Amino acid sequence: MKVTIVGAGNVGASCAEYIALKQIASKVVLLDIKEGFAEGKALDLSQTATTLGFNTSIIGVTNDYSATSDSNLVVITSGIPRKPGMTREELIGINAGIVKSVSENVLKHSPKAIIIVVSNPMDTMTYLAIKSLGLPKNRIIGMGGALDSSRFKTYLSLALNKPANDIQGMVIGGHGDTTMIPLTRIASYNGAPVSQYLNAEILEKVSADTMVGGATLTKLLGTSAWYAPGASVAYLVDSILNDHKRMIPSSVYLEGEYGLNDICIGVPCIIGANGIDSIVDVKLTSEEQNRLNESAEKVQAMNAALNDIL
Ligand code: NAI
Ligand code: 2OP
Repeated sequence: MKVTIVGAGNVGASCAEYIALKQIASKVVLLDIKEGFAEGKALDLSQTATTLGFNTSIIGVTNDYSATSDSNLVVITSGIPRKPGMTREELIGINAGIVKSVSENVLKHSPKAIIIVVSNPMDTMTYLAIKSLGLPKNRIIGMGGALDSSRFKTYLSLALNKPANDIQGMVIGGHGDTTMIPLTRIASYNGAPVSQYLNAEILEKVSADTMVGGATLTKLLGTSAWYAPGASVAYLVDSILNDHKRMIPSSVYLEGEYGLNDICIGVPCIIGANGIDSIVDVKLTSEEQNRLNESAEKVQAMNAALNDIL
């Protein structure tokens, strides 16, 4: 199986590393616009194969889309982070141009590929990909919920002082500080509701920490995070290429599901060989549904900035 990752920066390279380490694909192509950068990352990663014991071949190319031909899956991480003084609309304008041209290029060489969108603002970039590529909705997946859910489970495990892998939980809604919705009501410690062990105040703090999880790391690191984002993408890639059919909250085009239309936003999905196999209908309380509706309004307001591009 062949995976192309566009953008060999922090998230792209980390994703390539996890895919190789877990031998999820036989071939990974890293593509970047910066001369020699992807080649350097690929060479460095390849030189870990013998010590780490993997056989995945990793190659890097500078803007050469012919090397990406016949990829089964393409991950788009290319884009720029927001800079001081830059409005959200300006960022969208720049990243939208990049995501649109990159996705059109990859599709020319890999017409059957499933596409995972990572670049921010991710829900809006996923919507752009859906609208501009004309692919069936199962083949375009926005990665955000996998990462936000892993952060949620980490904060729950810290509050409970229990192993993170014994925690179940998910985050739906937009991938943004004010749009994501950690579903504390249905989070559990090996099936037992976490509310049996954590009071409302602590659960509120876990939820708030999760929502600013990305911003907290950006402040600490001086740029946005990459280990957990890269691992979250690899988790999706694994579920697709190995048809695991894991339930992973992902940004997907909605046509009435959860009462929402014409939007890409995070909801629980079964992720398998077809990309989005199905959208899972989890019964929300009216308060949770209201929060999802508010989240959708904010994502839709951001999508409006695409009007000049679409
Ligand atoms: P980075 O700056 O380390 O890497 C981005 C790479 O994209 C750079 O190497 C750059 O040269 C490349 N690039 C820019 N334009 C390109 C083009 N037209 N063609 C090919 N490559 C191009 O950034 P990082 O940290 O890897 O983040 C990448 C994106 O992912 C950002 O938009 C970031 O906000 C987003 N992100 C999203 C997450 C999510 O959960 N959805 C989590 C973490 C980051
Ligand atoms: C993150 O959540 C900024 O989307 C990026 O780390």
